[in-house]
Amino acid sequence: MTDATAHQEPAISVRGLTKTFGDFTAVDGIDFDVPRGQIFGFLGPNGSGKTTTIRMLTGTLRPKSGRADVLGEDVVRHPDRVQRRIGYMSQKFSLFEDMTVDENLKFYAGVYDLPPEKFASQREYVLKMADLVGRENELTRNLSVGWRQRLALGAATIHEPELLFLDEPTSGVDPVARRQFWDLLYDLASRGVTLFVTTHYMDEAAHCNRLAFIYRGRIIAEGSPAEIRADHMEQRIFDITTRSTDPALQWLEAAPGVDEAYLSGASLHAVVPTGSPLTGASLRARLAEAGFADAEVEEVDPTIEDVFVNLVSRQR
Ligand SMILES: Nc1ncnc2c1ncn2[C@@H]1O[C@H](COP(=O)(O)OP(=O)(O)O)[C@@H](O)[C@H]1O
Ligand SMILES: [Mg+2]
Repeated sequence: MTDATAHQEPAISVRGLTKTFGDFTAVDGIDFDVPRGQIFGFLGPNGSGKTTTIRMLTGTLRPKSGRADVLGEDVVRHPDRVQRRIGYMSQKFSLFEDMTVDENLKFYAGVYDLPPEKFASQREYVLKMADLVGRENELTRNLSVGWRQRLALGAATIHEPELLFLDEPTSGVDPVARRQFWDLLYDLASRGVTLFVTTHYMDEAAHCNRLAFIYRGRIIAEGSPAEIRADHMEQRIFDITTRSTDPALQWLEAAPGVDEAYLSGASLHAVVPTGSPLTGASLRARLAEAGFADAEVEEVDPTIEDVFVNLVSRQR
């Protein structure tokens, strides 16, 4: 095989991967491929099997059955070969709180046996990237969550891995820091790093080149955001804004002709079947009759979040 074809191989290829804990199946025969150099989003609510999957892909947890090839290596047989070439930012950020910024970076450089010259240049890059220049000697525990998140990213990439696993990296981080963090991930992807990112924030799906949705251990949708929207959305969505969000939501949930209603950001989304005679104007009239005179109604294209809410409700 030539180098050129070797690079066409997916960064991760998973077939029938399964993990059980006692009689509970946490990951249930999942299949997917992660192309190289892309941001792959692994989305799902809490408890759906995201961390368990990452632990199998990073060679720290043995699957019950199935196969996972990571960077062309069978990760079950050769976890060590894979581990040298990947970075992993765990859900808890894996930083030492009572070490300084610099000490954390030195620790991770040591884990990967980085030569001193290499460490010096990577340290400089990471400090700049994480906006931590001048804070090298601060204790990690004194940094805000946003700084710790960026430091953890720096620590996980100190050895310039080809593939980076990030387990809910933006969990508990404010929206501004989340955006800044995604910019750092784009930057890594633009330099050819493959990113496998889990999140339970559905709005982050839009940041990814490809996605897989996992729910109760099974993948229920996979593809690019546009493909997923096209393949899985057979319903129409109305966006409703009103000052009386809670009572309007209750009314919509019970309204005939409305399949589903839920909060979406600051507004409400109501899902109706494709063939429904409802229009924005008629739904608005019904809402006004029901006492929501200020309600504004607009038919909108489904977001990834809409698709996911629908997929989950169909599974139930
Ligand atoms: N070591 C374990 N022993 C028993 N159950 C576990 C273990 N690890 C995870 N689980 C269960 O497996 C399911 C999936 O967990 P996890 O992969 O952590 O989900 P997620 O990361 O999507 O929140 C959960 O129900 C969790 O309680
Ligand atoms: Mg998890």
